[in-house]
Amino acid sequence: MSVTHIPVLLSPTLELLDPKSGEVVIDVTLGLGGHAEKFLEKIGAKGKLIGVDADEENLSATRDQRPAISEKIEFINANFRDINDLDLPQCNILFADLGLSSPHIDDPERGFSFRGDSSLDCRFDKSKGISAATLLNNSSENDLIRIFKEYAEVEKIYALSREISEAKKIETTSDLREIVEKVYKWKANKVLPQIFQALRIEVNDEIGALDELLEQGPHFLRPGGRMGIISYHSLEDRKVKQRFKNLTTSQKDAITGAPICPPSYELLTKKAVQANLQEIESNPRARSARLRIIKKT
Ligand SMILES: C[S@@+](CC[C@H](N)C(=O)[O-])C[C@H]1O[C@@H](n2cnc3c(N)ncnc32)[C@H](O)[C@@H]1O
Repeated sequence: MSVTHIPVLLSPTLELLDPKSGEVVIDVTLGLGGHAEKFLEKIGAKGKLIGVDADEENLSATRDQRPAISEKIEFINANFRDINDLDLPQCNILFADLGLSSPHIDDPERGFSFRGDSSLDCRFDKSKGISAATLLNNSSENDLIRIFKEYAEVEKIYALSREISEAKKIETTSDLREIVEKVYKWKANKVLPQIFQALRIEVNDEIGALDELLEQGPHFLRPGGRMGIISYHSLEDRKVKQRFKNLTTSQKDAITGAPICPPSYELLTKKAVQANLQEIESNPRARSARLRIIKKT
């Protein structure tokens, strides 16, 4: 399968992260190297780009099908939640473009897409954790309600959770789709993306991984270094916004309220950067994208 993925918010990402000749960039969601390709152009031969991804298949696809950029990238197959264990250097840019890439959806065998009929998997790294099918078959009705409440903004969550827990066995993407169609009838196509997204977030513990990245990532920045995150879900964006706000606000004396320690980071995006209509028309995935950036002072 040939690899394609349109990088989201590419222009503002480049403008605000502003990669310069000779800089060190860590892209912790390398994917198919869409953003990385442009970072490489800017940092030139003297720069260094380290590309991390939890999905070995995406890294192999980039290696096999994009040799021109691959030879300049140091590949690391790992989850960014383990950023402290990867022996990474201090960098000028730390970048994350969260979530899934086009091949996850386009390749029905990965079990991320509700359109195909394949094993319901949804893991970025198939060597770890449990598949979405195993999760559904072993979760109580209350567990399911919690997952859909937290990660899917859809109605009829109680009915859906009951149907899933009463189903004998769910193995494939079409098994789940049939249940969703039974519950939501003609509205099924509207809610399917959200329901699959909720499962994917849970299966990959995407919120837990983001928490780790937000906690540890800023410590990898050199003075003047920038950290940028593109998120696609309101819960993720809230976490990024809150952590970046804490990092860029002076600590205050608990009693007097006087500032005691100036912040070590500056916010480069007062509001999240969003895609314009033109980008959304050519790449609907950009619709929910939110970019936030901080700089180490
Ligand atoms: C939106 S895609 C990145 C696309 C890339 N920016 C491009 O333009 O080609 C997100 C990538 O991050 C990877 N990913 C998601 N969560 C991850 C995590 N916790 N650790 C490492 N990689 C992760 C996915 O496997 C996917 O390849």
